[in-house]
Amino acid sequence: MKIGISGINGRVGRVLKSLIVENPDQYKDINLVFGLARYAASDLTLDVTDDADTFFDGVDGVIDFSLPDNFVRLAELNCDKYGKFMVSGTTGMDAAQMDAIEVAAQHVPILHAGNMSLGVNLLCALVRQSAARLGVEYDIEIAETHHRMKRDAPSGTALMLGRAAADGREVAHDDVAVFGRHGADVLRKEGEIGYAVQRGGGVIGAHDVSFFGGSEELTLSHKALDRALFAEGAIFAARWLKDKPAGRLYSMQDALEI
Ligand SMILES: NC(=O)c1ccc[n+]([C@@H]2O[C@H](COP(=O)([O-])OP(=O)(O)OC[C@H]3O[C@@H](n4cnc5c(N)ncnc54)[C@H](OP(=O)(O)O)[C@@H]3O)[C@@H](O)[C@H]2O)c1
Repeated sequence: MKIGISGINGRVGRVLKSLIVENPDQYKDINLVFGLARYAASDLTLDVTDDADTFFDGVDGVIDFSLPDNFVRLAELNCDKYGKFMVSGTTGMDAAQMDAIEVAAQHVPILHAGNMSLGVNLLCALVRQSAARLGVEYDIEIAETHHRMKRDAPSGTALMLGRAAADGREVAHDDVAVFGRHGADVLRKEGEIGYAVQRGGGVIGAHDVSFFGGSEELTLSHKALDRALFAEGAIFAARWLKDKPAGRLYSMQDALEI
């Protein structure tokens, strides 16, 4: 399949390009034809265009890691004129932008995921399943560690895991989430989902979800070892999406069939 990468100059775009170009055996079904960028960086060694029409014309499908405005613009153009499949990991969309993507997904195949990691998406399903089966006598605690440059806390992935746990228990996440504990009167309440955050060094991302029972503990754990995990997940998603019909916005849970 002929693929174009939108956001080719970005951190993930570059990892994606290197992964495909440097592993031709593993990705022999993928022909990386174009990058879309606002400017063509001289070190990219790939055809780069800033023209979205040229971009869509030459590809079967698009993988996008860019900015919300760009993703929405591409989805709408694709819908109007091209009908190509789109995988996007772009985050930070507001409600109106998500609505626009939902509308576009009625007409062209789109898969969007805030976290493209196969492991994290599987972990979410396992957390949901565990929370549904283990009662409130099992205390759920989520611990995450990231590099010292990360600004937000807890991580989006930790929140995704917390929401999966709340879904499993059929409770509203925001009613039971507790973000950090400090002080003389912070006794744990039944049903809380607690978050603990560490920041330091160059840790790409580590997440533990623990279920503490009276006589046993279960911990489900994920560690990111390389930023390529997002790129690998996006390619997995593209391979799954390429023959799917439009009609609804797909997620990584769909691609993993979980
Ligand atoms: N879902 C996941 O698993 C996952 C994982 C990591 C990151 N992300 C998300 O993916 C997105 C990209 O992440 P990143 O770390 O690669 O960010 P980044 O390094 O800032 O790259 C974003 C790229 O988007 C490009 N872009 C913006 N508007 C464009 C336009 N109109 N036309 C063409 N290119 C345009 C920018 O191009 P210029 O260089 O020309 O400005 C930039 O290179 C973010 O939303 C991030 O949160 C998702």
